[in-house]
This record gives sequence, C-alpha cells and structure tokens, in this order.
Amino acid sequence: MTVPATTEIRFAQHAPTSFFPVVDGQIAPGGIPIGRLAERVGRTPFYVYDRAAISMRVQSLRAALPAALHLHYAIKANPMPAVVQHLAALTDGLDVASAQEMRVALDTGIAPQRVSFAGPGKTAAEIRQAVAAGITVTVESALQLEQAVAAGEALGVRPRVAVRVNPAFELKSSGMRMGGGPKPFGIDEAKVPEVLDRVRADGAHLCGLHIFGGSQNLRAEAIVDAQQKTYELGLSLLRHWAAPVEWLNLGGGLGVPYFPNEHELDLAPVAANLHRLCERAHADLDAPLVIELGRYLVAHAGLYVCRVLDRKESCGQVFLVADGGLHHHLAASGNFGQVLRKNYPVAVANRIEAPLDEVQTVVGPLCTPLDVLADRMMLARAQPGDLIAVFQSGAYGPTASPAAFLGHPAAGEVLV
Ligand SMILES: Cc1ncc(COP(=O)(O)O)c(C=O)c1O
Repeated sequence: MTVPATTEIRFAQHAPTSFFPVVDGQIAPGGIPIGRLAERVGRTPFYVYDRAAISMRVQSLRAALPAALHLHYAIKANPMPAVVQHLAALTDGLDVASAQEMRVALDTGIAPQRVSFAGPGKTAAEIRQAVAAGITVTVESALQLEQAVAAGEALGVRPRVAVRVNPAFELKSSGMRMGGGPKPFGIDEAKVPEVLDRVRADGAHLCGLHIFGGSQNLRAEAIVDAQQKTYELGLSLLRHWAAPVEWLNLGGGLGVPYFPNEHELDLAPVAANLHRLCERAHADLDAPLVIELGRYLVAHAGLYVCRVLDRKESCGQVFLVADGGLHHHLAASGNFGQVLRKNYPVAVANRIEAPLDEVQTVVGPLCTPLDVLADRMMLARAQPGDLIAVFQSGAYGPTASPAAFLGHPAAGEVLV
C-alpha cells in the first residue's frame, strides 16, 4: 500500500502492549487471547482490565515509595466495582466523589474511616450519608462544613472532616489543574485558618488537610516541586491548628503516557523526595502523608476493544468502521479536554504480530467526524470481524464518556 504524500502517519502502538502477554498472535489480557475473550464476554465493544497489571503497578510503587506513605485510590478513575474491590485490598484508602462512588467503596467492606469524600459540589443529602456512614467529608467550602456539622448533630455523631485547601501555587505542567489561583476546588489557603477555627468551635473531628494541585503530570521535577510546596503549606496550616491529625494528603498528579513522544514518569526523584518528606512528617506531625492516585494505578491495565464492522476507502484513505468509539471512549477520540487530537496507542488486537503495513483510520459508528479512535495510523491490515484495541484505557473510560449519545449499546466491562 502506498501512503498518500499528504498523510501524516501517527504511530505509537508498541510500548504499552508490553503490559499484556501475547498468545497465539493475539493480545491476551489475563493470558486469554482477545478473540476468545470477546466470545466469553459475548459482545463487543468491551473494556477489559487486567488484575495482574494493576497489582504489579501497586507493587512497584510500594517498592519505590516510603513504607510510611499511605496510598489512596481515587475511584473516579475507574469505579468498576470489581476493580475497586481489587484496589481496596491493595491500597490504604479510597477517595470518592459522589454518593454512588461512596456505595461502591463501602460495598468492598472497607472501614469507612479509610474513605474520604471530596468534590466541589456535594448535596446536603450526600454529606449526611457520608457522615452517617463514618466517611471523612473533605469540606471544600464553609457551607459544606456547616452541613457536615448539622448532619452530625442530627445523627448524634461527631462528623469526620478534612479541609481541602486551594493552594496559591499550581502544579506546573499538569494536564488538569485543580489548584493555584481562582478555583472552585477547596478553600483558598488564606481562608483556611478561619475554617479550622470553625471546625474546632463546632466540635468536628479534623482528620487532616487535603491539597490536590492537579493531575496527569509526566514531569517528575514539577511533581517534586508541588509536593514540596504542598508539604510546607500543609505544615504551616497545621501549626495554626495546633492539634494532632490523622494524615496530611499531598494529592497526586502522577501521569501516564498516552501519546507519541510521551514517556513513563520517572518515579525515582518523586520517590526520593517522598522519603525525605515522610521523615519530616514523622518528626513534624507524627502523622503519615497520603498520596491520592487515580489513573496511575489503572490506566495501563485497561484495553478498550471493539470490532471492525466495515472497511472502506474514501479519496485514497482507508477507513475501518468499528462498533465502538467516542460514546464509550471520549478520551481516545480526543474530546476529553485535549486541545489537539492525538492518537492513543491502538492495535489490531487479534493480529498483534502481523506486520504494520497499512495506514488506516479507525472510526466509530456515530454520525460525527469527532468519532475517531485512530487517525491515519500504521496498523496491521484489518478486515471486518477483526478486533481493535485501544491501550492505556483503564482510566476515565466508560464513566467519562457520553454512553447514551445515539443510543448504541453500552460497552461491557470485565476484570480478568
Ligand atoms: C481530588 C482528586 N483526587 C484524585 C484525582 C485523580 O486524578 P488522576 O486520575 O489523574 O490521578 C482527581 C482528578 O480529577 C481529583 O480531582
């Protein structure tokens, strides 16, 4: 096949496939060749998450990070109950962002004091549910604190609260910034002492401070810089509090590579800094530090799998029309906060060892030019019936996509 001169080839497929074994020339999550897995699931499209890949990620993190550091999973990244159940056993706590996520967390059997509930917009009813369950409400405004206190009074319990701080500095080079400057998240650092006084006056139990600067950062030095500043800020605010706390949550932000030219985060400097900070926290606060990770624990462990329905050519370009797309995987289509669309790593999953010999564009079934899973990528030549896999798909997949758009069936989800 000759490549039209105007075609820019974007090719990024191989590195992430190494997270999965290959069996019989097919990508094989959990050791099951993808064709057989599709038969077992009974339909396409589906997401498959690999339990061993998640466990290995947690193990390698634990090996690098200080033992005293608490590792929390932000379940918004992947709230599939089986995934949350798996991670509840491997981590020290779960962060939830809604009553639904709270239920998923509690269904794992986790002790409620290991669950924290963050989010800029909580209803009074959600706050009451959290207080009733003994979950820590991460208050993001004076009103949320009032509502937690009122819920505690009504229920006859002392509410567990943490205060989310909006730091004055930002996490540089982050895909998404949740701190620094005017933000709806948390309480501006300058106003936190006043809120801490309110916590004391109202008799609530302060578990700690939560300072989450941003997410999807691949630059270790930016993460180190933010964690350093976050620690200093937390320490100075806790000096004002002048009483023990259970923990100080430094946020997370550890990113994963999605696109060509992106590389795995260099964990060594981040880990070295956290070793230093944990020693300081032991002396300064006598309380553990927490980091809160979402995608870093699960993104690599997930594949989105859809089937080629049709193959056609238009003006010299080959299109593979698949049964899945934007409605299940908004991020891979380039419409989840990206400014410029770039290809996620994609492969023809049942021909994983075949030569990459044709430039093909994988589109979904929706009637919109936005429904693209791979734009002019060099892939193994595919036919109707073949399976397309999108790698790095274990986070912000189905729950971050407009599943109802055009009324196609929802994607299946399996953990193997
Ligand atoms: C408070 C909070 N915690 C954790 C996360 C998870 O971020 P990531 O999946 O990038 O680790 C987010 C992301 O929006 C967040 O807002």
